[in-house]
Amino acid sequence: MSNKAPFITFEGGEGSGKTTQIRLLKTWLEDKGKYVTTTREPGGTVGAEAIRDLIVQKRDNQWDAETDALLLMAARRDHLVHLIWPSLEQGHWVLSDRFVESTYAYQCFGRDLPLEKARELYRFIAGDFKPDLTFILDIDPRDGLDRALTGKHRNRNEERFENFDFSFHENLRAGYHELAKQEPQRFIIIDAAPDCEHVQAQLQAAIEKRFSL
Ligand code: TMP
Repeated sequence: MSNKAPFITFEGGEGSGKTTQIRLLKTWLEDKGKYVTTTREPGGTVGAEAIRDLIVQKRDNQWDAETDALLLMAARRDHLVHLIWPSLEQGHWVLSDRFVESTYAYQCFGRDLPLEKARELYRFIAGDFKPDLTFILDIDPRDGLDRALTGKHRNRNEERFENFDFSFHENLRAGYHELAKQEPQRFIIIDAAPDCEHVQAQLQAAIEKRFSL
């Protein structure tokens, strides 16, 4: 399937600032006359948000990486069918705060799910559909966790993954770098440590170049 508009995903560890950057990009693209749908994973549709509550809430669940991956893929399928694909079909740019690379980073590199198994699940729900461009907002997990757990956007109900041990966060960061190495034409790594305006300027410049705006 070739999209009528770009599908751009934003990835990164905790506290990398994706949500704020996406909000700013939406306004910037709309000022250029584009229709823009912003969304997030897990979530984005009623069904997928219900699954999100099960996955991200800090409760005493003992789910392993396989169980998480199955729930995440179910949420992702609903998100694709009811929001992402119809929006692209209407010619809307779609900016998603996380997508399948979060499963590869968190459940595979961060925990122990084999990458090939997660890729098989993804093929089952999405075929060969992929984002046109994936940004990784890269940040040292020490700084990211500090931002996530003390910042004004803190959501205490949704801290299941923040509470995994530190090596989990280091491994998922390394995983994102490995994924980018495997598909350098699709991924762009952005240093998320500088201030918000600086990061936004980098994102805008990359989008202008990639989509000839
Ligand atoms: P958020 O903090 O960016 O809103 O994302 C929710 C949490 O869910 C975050 O800790 C990352 C985690 N997550 C996964 O573990 N696997 C996934 O596939 C996705 C989409 C999110």
